[in-house]
Amino acid sequence: MTDRYLSFAGTAPGRFLTRRLGLPQPTALHRWSAEHPSFEGELLHLTAGKSSLQGPDGLAAVLGRTGLGVRAESERPIAVVLDATGVTDVDTLAEVHASLHPVVRSVTDSGRVIVLGAPLDAADHHQAAVQQALEGFVRSLGKEIGRGRTVTLLRLTDANAAESTLRFLLSPKSAYVSGQVIGIGGGAEVTAPEDWALPLAGRSALVTGAARGIGEAVAAALARDGARVVCLDVPGAAAELDAVAGRLGGTALALDITSPDAGARILAALPSDGLDVLVHNAGITRDRRLVNMAAERWSSVLDVNLASVLRTSDALLSAGGLRHGGRIVATASIAGLAGNAGQTNYAASKAGVAGLVRALAPRAAAEHGVTVNAVAPGFIETKMTAAVPLFIREAGRRMNSLGQGGLPVDVAETTAWLAHPASGAVNGQVVRVCGQSLLGA
Ligand code: NAI
Repeated sequence: MTDRYLSFAGTAPGRFLTRRLGLPQPTALHRWSAEHPSFEGELLHLTAGKSSLQGPDGLAAVLGRTGLGVRAESERPIAVVLDATGVTDVDTLAEVHASLHPVVRSVTDSGRVIVLGAPLDAADHHQAAVQQALEGFVRSLGKEIGRGRTVTLLRLTDANAAESTLRFLLSPKSAYVSGQVIGIGGGAEVTAPEDWALPLAGRSALVTGAARGIGEAVAAALARDGARVVCLDVPGAAAELDAVAGRLGGTALALDITSPDAGARILAALPSDGLDVLVHNAGITRDRRLVNMAAERWSSVLDVNLASVLRTSDALLSAGGLRHGGRIVATASIAGLAGNAGQTNYAASKAGVAGLVRALAPRAAAEHGVTVNAVAPGFIETKMTAAVPLFIREAGRRMNSLGQGGLPVDVAETTAWLAHPASGAVNGQVVRVCGQSLLGA
């Protein structure tokens, strides 16, 4: 569905009118395309305090491999990376202000500000205080920076383990991810791909709910990245599913994910050497306020959105269906993080997904070499949201720092980053793809 307000706000009279009337001024985002797969321009690399990411294999080397021109000064950077890993007290925290204050204005439209922080040190309350301060800083800057620019905080100790994440954030693929705090470290093995343009070459992926919407976009992104995809959806969607699988050179598996033998049927349909990427995307809503919610509305949503995610993850992990180095990416929702009237069932199921991810992640990494993460979409332009009444839909679109809804491809690109073989150190994360929605944390 077209966002007419966004198109209008991008015209000269639209810009004039929206400014005069004090209305939101969303900027059309620069997204990935085969013709323009990466950003071009300069990356401003700044440091506050004494960095812990130095050395020949450190941050400078990783940034140098992004293809951007890394500079210590730049008039018009497409991205700023501020290394604040060495911020340990209130005095060095002032260097964050001193570094970014003069340059934020010059970052180009749809550009990036990435702040690198250190893990909080429980034994040093000064360090923990100022490192936590970076979260408030980043979330506030995300809300005020505007012009399609995003702001993210990464917590890390090893720049190499963060390479796939830095490449993702420093590319048009992360257009709708802003105001997020992402932790990198521990987890599973980090494997640099032979070809960064085809990171999933030789790997296989299964996407549930792949006949349309976000699932279709996820399957397409994973296929673009080189994966052989198995597309799963309900038998009632078999025609659309066949079309998607055929277009992507994958295979279709018409199966209701809630059926008791779903795990066994998935295992039977997988390549003999197992699966590398499992994406739990299938999901439904059956909205009613709790007082009007029949038990069936509760159980159907919990069954598709949570119980089947638990069952199929368990079935695949226990039967060795996911290979060492595998990835599980589940789909939560900001409704699960913030709560939403009329969605006690849906929000419970999606909060449950976040709980599953956090608890299973360390164990799956230790026992199977598999990472477990979730994407939490905000307002995404799909058939589901097109059916929302106009006023609520408009509010959903504008109530985020980027002033517009996301596209299925935004969730798909985030999933592809989590599925990447070099993302092994990203584990147990719930990453919101919401343009920094005002709902929730
Ligand atoms: P959609 O309704 O367009 O697509 C969902 C797909 O899952 C459909 O093809 C459907 O047939 C399939 N599916 C449903 N039940 C199934 C079952 N029992 N077995 C197999 N497949 C089944 O939904 P959309 O918008 O693409 O959402 C995808 C995921 O993203 C869902 O988990 C949803 O909760 C989540 N999400 C979507 C948001 C949005 O704004 N569209 C926001 C937050 C989360």
